[in-house]
Amino acid sequence: MPLDLMSQGSNPNFFNTEHTLAQRIRWVHDLIKQKIPKVNRIAVAVYDEKTDVLKTFVHSTDIENPLPLYECKLSDAPALLAISQSGKPRVINQMSDLPLDKQHTQRVRSAGFQSSFTQAIYHNERFSGFIFFNSLHPGAFTEEYQQDLSIMAYLVNLLINNEFNVLTTLNGVVHSLEDVAQFRDEETGYHLERMSRYSRVIARYIAQQTGLLSDEHVEYIFLYSTLHDIGKIAIPDNILLKPGKLTEGEMTLMKSHPSKGHEIIKRILDNLSMKTVPFADALLNIILCHHERWDGMGYPAGLSGDAIPIEARVVAVADVFDALTSARSYKEAWSIERAFEFIEEKSGSFFDPNCVQALLACEDDIRLIKDQFAETGSG
Ligand code: C2E
Ligand code: SIN
Ligand code: SIN
Ligand code: FE
Ligand code: FE
Repeated sequence: MPLDLMSQGSNPNFFNTEHTLAQRIRWVHDLIKQKIPKVNRIAVAVYDEKTDVLKTFVHSTDIENPLPLYECKLSDAPALLAISQSGKPRVINQMSDLPLDKQHTQRVRSAGFQSSFTQAIYHNERFSGFIFFNSLHPGAFTEEYQQDLSIMAYLVNLLINNEFNVLTTLNGVVHSLEDVAQFRDEETGYHLERMSRYSRVIARYIAQQTGLLSDEHVEYIFLYSTLHDIGKIAIPDNILLKPGKLTEGEMTLMKSHPSKGHEIIKRILDNLSMKTVPFADALLNIILCHHERWDGMGYPAGLSGDAIPIEARVVAVADVFDALTSARSYKEAWSIERAFEFIEEKSGSFFDPNCVQALLACEDDIRLIKDQFAETGSG
C-alpha cells in the first residue's frame, strides 16, 4: 500500500515551522501507522555532549507518555551507548529480553510496551540523540518492517536537524553581532554554560511539579537562556566593565539592556524571516523580563507574580545565583551556601517562590554543574 501523505485532510508540510515539532512528529507517527499500525510511540531524546546527558525532547504516544522529563547520563546506559557507537539500529521484539536495571527501561516496559526499535540520530555528523519506536505488541518490528522504520527514523532526524539549524543560524547571527560590537562582557568564562544548565534544572523541576511545561519547552529555556543579556552589547564598555559601583545614571543606562536586547532579537527574527523560530515567545520573554521581580519592583516593566512569563522567572533565579557565586569586576564570588541563603530570603519578593524551591531542591544537580563548569585560574 502506498503511503498517503494527504490522509490528514491537509497536506502536512513537514518543514513548515509554523507547526510545532511535536505536531510534525505526530504526522510522522500517523504516516508510519498506515504501514506499520503497531507503532504506538515515537520518542526523541537529545544529547548534551558537554555533560553527557541524554534528555527526553519530543514524542508522540498513543497512551500516556511513560517518560516525561526524563534524563540520564549516556555513560550510565551502556546499551544505548553501544547503539550510538555502532550507528546501527537496535531491534527488540520482546522487552523482557532487556535487563530491568535501568529506570527508563522499567518505565517503558511497565507502561506496556513490548517491542522497541532504537536508532541514533546525528547533526553535522555528530551523534545528537536517539529516536525510539515502541509498540504495545510483542514481535512488532520484524525484519520486513526494519527498512521502513529506518527511513522514518531518518525523516525524524531531518526534522530535528531542521529545528536545530534555525537555532544554529540565530546563534551565528548573535555571535557575529557581538564580534562586530567588540562586545566584552565580563561574564566570560563559563557563565552561560552554567546559568543555562541551572535554568534547565529549575525548569525541569517546575515541569515535574506542575505539569505546565513540556520537555520541549524546558529544552528551549535551556537553549535560549544563554541569550538573556544580548542587550548588553548596546551598553558602553566604560559602564559594563566598570571596576566598581555604578552611579545612578549609569545604572539607569544599564537597566535598558533587557529592552535593547528585545529590540535586537526582534529585528534579527524579522530580518531572517524567522518569526517562526520554535518557542520564539520564550526567547523574547527571557530577554525582556529576566530582571522583573516577583513583587513588581523589577525592570523594565515592573510586572509582578504570574504576569512575569515563567521562562523569565526561571532564568532570573539561575542568573542571579550564578552572578552571586561568580566574581565580578565589582564584587567577589559568594559561597554556594551564602547565595542559597540570599535567594531563599528573597523568595516571594525578588523571586517566584516555586523557582526558589526548585533551586534549593536540586542542590546536588546545581553543585555538579558548578563543579563541572568551574572557572580555572583566579576568581
Ligand atoms: P550581572 O552581574 O549579571 O548581575 C545580574 C543580577 O544579579 C543583578 O541584576 C543583581 O540582581 C544580582 N547581583 C549580582 N551581583 C550582586 C551582588 O553583589 N549583590 C546582590 N544583592 N545582587 C547581585 P542588576 O542589579 O539589575 O544588574 C544588572 C547588571 O548590571 C549586572 O549583571 C551587571 O552587569 C551590572 N551591574 C549591576 N551593579 C553593578 C555595579 O555595581 N558595578 C558594575 N560595574 N556593574 C553593575
Ligand atoms: C541501558 O540503557 O543500558 C539498558 C536499557 C536500554 O537500552 O533500553
Ligand atoms: C525510550 O523508549 O524512550 C527509552 C527506552 C529504551 O531504552 O528503549
Ligand atoms: Fe541581565
Ligand atoms: Fe547574566
